Amino acid sequence: MIKSRIMTLIVGLALFGAIFSSTTISAQSVATIDGTVNASEYAYSVVTKAGVYTLYWSIDQNNSMIYVGIVAATTGWVAVGFDAQTGMDKADIYFGYVDGDQQNAVDTYSDGPTGPHPADVDAGGKNDITDFAVTEKNGETSFEFSRKLNTGDSRDNALENKQIKVIWAIGSSDDITVRHEPSNRGTITVNLFTGATESGGDGDSSFGAITFFISSLALFASGIVLLRKRR
Ligand code: HEM
Repeated sequence: MIKSRIMTLIVGLALFGAIFSSTTISAQSVATIDGTVNASEYAYSVVTKAGVYTLYWSIDQNNSMIYVGIVAATTGWVAVGFDAQTGMDKADIYFGYVDGDQQNAVDTYSDGPTGPHPADVDAGGKNDITDFAVTEKNGETSFEFSRKLNTGDSRDNALENKQIKVIWAIGSSDDITVRHEPSNRGTITVNLFTGATESGGDGDSSFGAITFFISSLALFASGIVLLRKRR
């Protein structure tokens, strides 16, 4: 009896940890696109590289929109790419940068594993960024933008409720044809609609780490209980 109660508790803890090990910060789904990223504006976030790049986002299902925020340690370009295949191939990439007092955002699409990724407007597509703002402060760039989940553009990927590869990178110049350092790019596998990350990223809060730890511990303990029961 006691053993079965313990088992129920352990399995419950494991499920809780597994479900909440990704980071869900707030219920707010519409961020203010002003070039200042506040964690509370976004439902989800992941630190892809500590001290270098954090990605924030919210899905507004009522209006079929995604809101994205990037905070990265560069005064060059910052970028995120949705639904990449091999390397950068077929990634729907968005660049933001500040050049002088000019804020810039470019909707692009990668035609190969290492590019090129011309602007959609130069490759038969259109610019589907509905709103954006980019600011630079203390060596960091903050880039916020929004777009429809499904733009209908052949040079964009429709965003759906499934795991996709999201790529990130930063450059040291404002020229979006000048590549990143190998250490300043990466890939995470994530479901943008649930915030569940499969791999990559450093996690963005101790909450995620703690729940992951608890779920691992609970799964380990439940394994021991099951083994003991079998004997
Ligand atoms: C600005 C022009 C760009 C050029 C010329 C370029 C070029 C390259 C090259 C040559 C590689 C292979 C070497 C390496 O692993 O570092 C690479 C890899 C990669 N790039 Fe880019 N890149 C550009 C922009 C971007 C952007 C904007 C992103 C993300 C939004 C990105 C994400 C990646 C990723 C994730 C990899 C590793 C792919 C893998 O091996 O799985 N790149 N890029």
